[in-house]
This record gives sequence, C-alpha cells and structure tokens, in this order.
Amino acid sequence: MPLLLVQNDITTMQVDAIVNAANESLLGGGGVDGAIHRAAGPELLGECRTLHGCKTGQAKLTGGYRLPAKFVIHTVGPIWRGGTHGEPELLASAYRSSLELALAHRCETVAFPLISSGVYGYPKDRALKVAVDTIGAFLLAHDMLVYLVIFDRATYTIGEELSAGIAAHLAGPGEPDLRTPAPGGPDKAPGQPGESFSQMLLRQIGQRGLTDAQCCRRANLDRGLLSQIRSDVHYRPSKSTALALAVALELPLEETRELLQKAGFALSRASRLDAIVEYFIARGNYNIFEINAALFAFDQGLLGG
Ligand code: APR
Repeated sequence: MPLLLVQNDITTMQVDAIVNAANESLLGGGGVDGAIHRAAGPELLGECRTLHGCKTGQAKLTGGYRLPAKFVIHTVGPIWRGGTHGEPELLASAYRSSLELALAHRCETVAFPLISSGVYGYPKDRALKVAVDTIGAFLLAHDMLVYLVIFDRATYTIGEELSAGIAAHLAGPGEPDLRTPAPGGPDKAPGQPGESFSQMLLRQIGQRGLTDAQCCRRANLDRGLLSQIRSDVHYRPSKSTALALAVALELPLEETRELLQKAGFALSRASRLDAIVEYFIARGNYNIFEINAALFAFDQGLLGG
C-alpha cells in the first residue's frame, strides 16, 4: 500500500498509530513531542513513565488516550552532529523500529513526522531522503498505509541540487523527444500494435517476472488494483495510475508514452507533473517514493496512492 506525503498536524490524524519524535527520557519535550503530549493528555506521560526511556533508533508503543489515533509509537531520532556519527543509520533504524512495532500491533495506517529534522538539527532534505527511502523499502515488502506528515510546508525541501535540476528541466526545452525518428526512418514503436492498456501492462509484468503485489508496491498502489485490471481487458486507469505503473515497470520514456497512449493519455511538457516524472525517468531513477517527494516539493499530485 502507499506512502503519502501530507501537510497536517499529526495530532489530528485519524490513523491506527502516530509516531512521536521523542527524546531518550520519553518524558516529553517541545516540537511534535510537546504537541502530542498536549493533545493526548496527562495519561500519556503516566504511561511513558512506566517505559523507562528509549534508546536512539529504537521505538516503544503506548495508548493514544485523547488523540484520535489508537496508539502512539515513541521513537528517538539521532541528534545531528555533522553526519559522521552514524546519524543516517540511527535515523533509518528509528523509522524501521517504528514500522516493525506498528506491524506487530496490526496497525494498517501509520503517520510519521519528519524525525530529527527539528530540534535535533538533522538537515531537512537528508532527513526526508532517509524517511522516504526507509519507509519505501518497508512498503515494498509489507502492506500498510503510511503518511509522512509535513507540518511546516515552508521548510520542506528536497535539497538545493535536485530542486535546481528539476527547476531547470521545467524551464528548459526538456529531454530529447525520443519520438524523433532515428536517421534511416522512424524506429518501430515498441509494443504490440492493437494491444489494450491492460494487455500491454500484463505483458510487461510477465516479461519482468514481477508478481502483481511487487508491481503495485513499486507503483505506490493498493494491491487490489491489478486484480481489477486482470478482470477487465478494457480497463482505463487514471493518468496518475498509468504513470505510476510505467515507473513500477521501469519503462524508458518511449514505452512510458506508449503505455499512456493506450490509456488515452500523452506526456505533456505543459504539465509540471509529467515533466518532473520525465526528469526522473530520463535519469533512470524509478524510485516512486523519491519521485513523489519531488512532486510534493513542486505542489503537484502524487503518483499512485
Ligand atoms: N505535526 C507534525 N509534525 C510536527 C508537528 C506536528 N504537530 N510539530 C512539529 N512537527 C515537525 C517539525 O516541523 C519537524 O519537521 O516534526 C519534525 C521533528 O521536529 P521536532 O519535534 O523538533 O523533533 P526532533 O527534531 O526529532 O527533536 C526531538 O525535540 O521536542 C523535542 O522532546 C523532543 O527532545 C526531543 C527533540
């Protein structure tokens, strides 16, 4: 199931578990820790007192009390000390420990703040990448709906370099149009003429030896979608779903265009979403979670979900 980036106050999220960016004492603090304790009420601190703290990179679970969430998973991210003291590994461990604890308690929906990116000083773009890559890797193997909650939109960043690269792509003429026929006549368009969208999709899945579950997870889609597609040879997806599936199959630009065309869509340079996806495909980056983090940065809808 999907990873969704949302702007929200995590204390309002109606999910099975929200994750708290706590400190090792688990006795409360500022930032999201303070907000969660204020919203949950004093019983939360009462239960936290019985846990006797939590090591950095680990996680412990309590009730949600007055919060709409059933549980609070308290985890402790690393304090940023320049990046050479194991911070990335400890931050990834905080996400993984929280996800494993959520799984153990049969949570189907979980919301994370951007751990360590506030008081603990972890650079926000690096904290985001660890979050997206760690949660994404978990979701390639498990079914859970995970929200990454961005509280302060103004400080959300995917990093200067990537941001500038995408902005230049959006402003520029774009990738060479692969439809321009090579010297000696137009290339034969790949794919089978007359195939429907679902026939081309299912053929591509088979050629890659993917299971339906693997394909949906890589597309940031619910697993049930492919059984729907399998049962309807004339299935017509949304453009976002078609693009998500092209990314999941790691189709080069030309075959991405072909798959979209069979669903009745075209990649358009006028669409910032299309141009950003094209940017990643042209560079061979098919990590749909990283693509979505960039789409979120440019105020675009997300793929899949
Ligand atoms: N909902 C969602 N996210 C929030 C909220 C909220 N209500 N409030 C703050 N955040 C975001 C911040 O914008 C930041 O991106 O949570 C992220 C983590 O920031 P901090 O809460 O400062 O947590 P962290 O950087 O991990 O530092 C932990 O701060 O609050 C103390 O007791 C805590 O000592 C611990 C330290």
